[in-house]
Amino acid sequence: MSRTGAAPDVVPGAGIELRGVTKTFATRTAKTTALDAVSLFCPPGSFTALIGPSGCGKSTLLRLALGLETADAGEAMIGGEKPVIAARKGVTGIAFQDPALLPWRSVTDNIALPLDLLGRSKAEHAGKIEDLIRLVGLSNFAHSLPGELSGGMRQRVAIARALVTDPQVLFLDEPFGALDQILRRQMNIELQNIWLRNRTTALLVTHGIDEAVFLADTVVVMHARPGRIVKTIAVPFERPRPVSLFSSPEFHLLCDEVAEALHGG
Ligand SMILES: Nc1ncnc2c1ncn2[C@@H]1O[C@H](COP(=O)(O)OP(=O)(O)OP(=O)(O)O)[C@@H](O)[C@H]1O
Ligand SMILES: [Mg+2]
Repeated sequence: MSRTGAAPDVVPGAGIELRGVTKTFATRTAKTTALDAVSLFCPPGSFTALIGPSGCGKSTLLRLALGLETADAGEAMIGGEKPVIAARKGVTGIAFQDPALLPWRSVTDNIALPLDLLGRSKAEHAGKIEDLIRLVGLSNFAHSLPGELSGGMRQRVAIARALVTDPQVLFLDEPFGALDQILRRQMNIELQNIWLRNRTTALLVTHGIDEAVFLADTVVVMHARPGRIVKTIAVPFERPRPVSLFSSPEFHLLCDEVAEALHGG
């Protein structure tokens, strides 16, 4: 496997920047520092994977970058703009672990949902929706309802939906967490293909070390209590990455390095 250096090509688009972001949640019984002075920069067109134990603040970080939470200190910027502004313009897209599709809407209409929310015309974007359905391999299911799809297919609808506004930044919060290992690997390969075609700035939250190393050019490792970044690991494998990468010694060495950072003190 050749190594080409970790720096992704410079591409236009929005990056993600967090500067000293701190977020504390206070409940009746406890105070949790979900994020403690977290700084992170994801250049435009880069693919970053965020990995860390449950409760270390990964989803909170995404919610801040989407403008769904506000920081107590520090700031998050998307393409140099405040996250709420970027979200309002459709610069950011998101896919969660639970695809949360509307059961009464067809695949096409579920993918069109963000356009409805942004007040954009679905008819004007019909070609775009068709392209996306093709991109995620669901051309024969455009009129199917979510209940008629497999888990992996539903997840692909969620990814197409996240891409329908042509986001410059794509957040993926454990999008394949509910899938079995075989399907998950297929989805990793598909996501790589989709990303190579779109080159959106991607930030993927995952519990899968192999998924993180296979997809990302940078793996960011977090620890909990307080939530913080403990290590940033560059992944130098050239793209497109073949499925055989999963069984190569270089791949395993990097996975070991991530595991050590994850479990180490
Ligand atoms: N709205 C909230 N109110 C109170 N505490 C919260 C809230 N949201 C998050 N927290 C706390 O902040 C911490 C970080 O939560 P977060 O959901 O970001 O973790 P995570 O890394 O995404 O975990 P997981 O891997 O389980 O999804 C946790 O301790 C959680 O209990
Ligand atoms: Mg989470």
